[in-house]
Amino acid sequence: MASRTASRALRSSLRQTVKAPAVQQRTFVSAVNAASRPALAQAPKAAAPFVQQRGVKTVDFAGHKEDVYERADWPREKLLEYFKNDTLALIGYGSQGHGQGLNLRDNGLNVIVGVRKDGASWKEAVQDGWQPGVNLFEVDEAVQKGTIVMNLLSDAAQKETWSRLKPMITKGKTLYFSHGFSPVFKDRTNVEVPSDVDVILVAPKGSGRTVRSLFKEGRGINSSVAVYQDVTGKALEKAVAMGVAVGSGYLYETTFEKEVYSDLYGERGCLMGGIHGMFLAQYEVLRENGHTPSEAFNETVEEATQSLYPLIGKNGMDYMYEACSTTARRGAIDWSKRFKENLKPLFEELYESTRNGTETQRTLDYAGRPDYRQAFEKEMEEIRNLEIWRAGKAVRSLRPENA
Ligand SMILES: NC(=O)c1ccc[n+]([C@@H]2O[C@H](COP(=O)([O-])OP(=O)(O)OC[C@H]3O[C@@H](n4cnc5c(N)ncnc54)[C@H](OP(=O)(O)O)[C@@H]3O)[C@@H](O)[C@H]2O)c1
Repeated sequence: MASRTASRALRSSLRQTVKAPAVQQRTFVSAVNAASRPALAQAPKAAAPFVQQRGVKTVDFAGHKEDVYERADWPREKLLEYFKNDTLALIGYGSQGHGQGLNLRDNGLNVIVGVRKDGASWKEAVQDGWQPGVNLFEVDEAVQKGTIVMNLLSDAAQKETWSRLKPMITKGKTLYFSHGFSPVFKDRTNVEVPSDVDVILVAPKGSGRTVRSLFKEGRGINSSVAVYQDVTGKALEKAVAMGVAVGSGYLYETTFEKEVYSDLYGERGCLMGGIHGMFLAQYEVLRENGHTPSEAFNETVEEATQSLYPLIGKNGMDYMYEACSTTARRGAIDWSKRFKENLKPLFEELYESTRNGTETQRTLDYAGRPDYRQAFEKEMEEIRNLEIWRAGKAVRSLRPENA
């Protein structure tokens, strides 16, 4: 018992070290400010102009040093100053358009939305308080008005609309994406960016709904940030500022290519497709062996989402294991190796399918159909009607908070 307590204490202190890794705080000052520094040193304090300190932190991620950018470096007043001459034209009002647009608006920035007149997004935008002719326009008009064009159309629509929109993204504007998809796979999407604009990316690592809910809670999603083309020499700085403005808590740097490969791979794997496949397989075997739907659901999904996965999220896999019985731990550690061995070839196949554009093509073909919403709805209906998810509905209704 004593050694267990001691080892807990050690782990707890280690965890604190991990929580607050030794960071090397580097500060750099923009070119303009750097030039004015000597003058500043001699100038009386009251006359000091607005100096922007740019904080970049190098964090040790398990032995690999990476730069991260944090919201703390971009307080609201600094964002307002930085974007004071900009019109942020956000086109597309799906999950990301909704989350990022409302966060920008709440941050006090000059943001307008561009969507198809009277489409589902237009109606949703009106419900969210965007006003036609004031800060809600058709796509083309918004792009013409914008200095920073945030392309949050569906990836398939980015392809479809590009030849029309490209001439409106003129010299001096900035082109912003939340996914590397269109420019990286330009051979398939035809999104060849204009050569005289900065092209940046902020990709929130989560649904746009979460981008919004975390912002409202005073928290912030983690996002990746990247530069595809830097014409002004300030593209990265602008990307980071945009990232904070749309609601990121911190941002880690990547490239457009790495973002798109990891994102497509992750959502098809552990984040969504893989986990759904695991749930279905486990549930079916339980049912085939005579377990009731409630038992099969509880042992597959409910305990995972309500008890165990939040523990992983909070403090890591070891913490989750340690919170469980020795019986559970022994079996889980042994079987994790079998699952990894068996699943790794499938993940390799998935990565290759992402890298070589197969996944991109499939997305473009499917989401480019005029009836894509109805087609997806049909599939959602099929999923909703699977026994596992119908059982889940009944299980959720029994949660005391839902009674
Ligand atoms: N969703 C996420 O969790 C997430 C996370 C990170 C990054 N991203 C990236 O963020 C971007 C936006 O994704 P999203 O999920 O927010 O949106 P989405 O659901 O993929 O796209 C919806 C938007 O595209 C518009 N649209 C579709 N076809 C159109 C067309 N032919 N012409 C004009 N508009 C059209 C829709 O308007 P209508 O209502 O008029 O059809 C709607 O406003 C994508 O690049 C995506 O990869 C998404």
